[in-house]
Amino acid sequence: MTKKQLDESVTYLKNKGFDTPEIGIVLGTGLGQLVNEIEDSLVAHYNHIPNFPLATVEFHSGKLLFGTIENKKVVVMQGRFHLYEGYDLLDVTYPIRVMSELGIQKLFISNAAGAINLDFKKGDIMLIEDHINLQGGSPLAFKNVAEFGDRFVDMSEPYDTYMRNKIIAIAKREKISLQKGVYASVVGPQLETKAEYRMLKTLGADAVGMSTVPEVIVANHLRLPIVAVSVLTDECDPDNLEPVNIQEIIEIAGKTEPKMIKLFKELIKTL
Ligand code: HPA
Repeated sequence: MTKKQLDESVTYLKNKGFDTPEIGIVLGTGLGQLVNEIEDSLVAHYNHIPNFPLATVEFHSGKLLFGTIENKKVVVMQGRFHLYEGYDLLDVTYPIRVMSELGIQKLFISNAAGAINLDFKKGDIMLIEDHINLQGGSPLAFKNVAEFGDRFVDMSEPYDTYMRNKIIAIAKREKISLQKGVYASVVGPQLETKAEYRMLKTLGADAVGMSTVPEVIVANHLRLPIVAVSVLTDECDPDNLEPVNIQEIIEIAGKTEPKMIKLFKELIKTL
């Protein structure tokens, strides 16, 4: 990755009218309906943005949208890049760097995740308070990282406390039950074994998924305040494990998404 490549991506988007968004939003698997809330939207397909990672065959819907939500300018990623699709850690975090160069001051992230903490149920929303990186690498482990920021990035508070407290207050006011916890990221795409679910619990994870952590590391590199939520789509109980049903995971994500949209929209209002 070079500065020149980033500049080319950003110039393309600026020429399309992506003019200084304040907030960047990443929408996870099955969580695309927030795009219906964008007013006066502009669209850029990932395939058309210079230097964006090349999309895989099955990855059709990836696009970047620009517009306003609650009178704030936003840029929204509908679909993200995953390690399990064969992308590397620089690929999956490239859009975060692009959104930062476009001017975002805050980053909202969402994902679909499995519940490791069995007090949590599918259809719950979990505010991510901290994470465990189990993806076997770092998006900051590249030679010219110093051109982009510090090499040794502090991760003592990776999720912005101010915005987290706002989300907690909004959930209370709107009577949305909100779990809080630690998200562990794995590579996937296979789901976990019973033994792996036991391990994740022992490690202190409350939820597990295949994304988000690299994006959060890069956002910290860029000193972007982050708020991130998991939509819990299945319960990962090693003693009663049912075969995974991806269709059901996507369905539960879709059904739960309105709560996430409410939290994000109300948070935007306060910023
Ligand atoms: N693991 C288990 N369950 C899940 C995941 C995962 O990575 N993502 C969504 N549900």
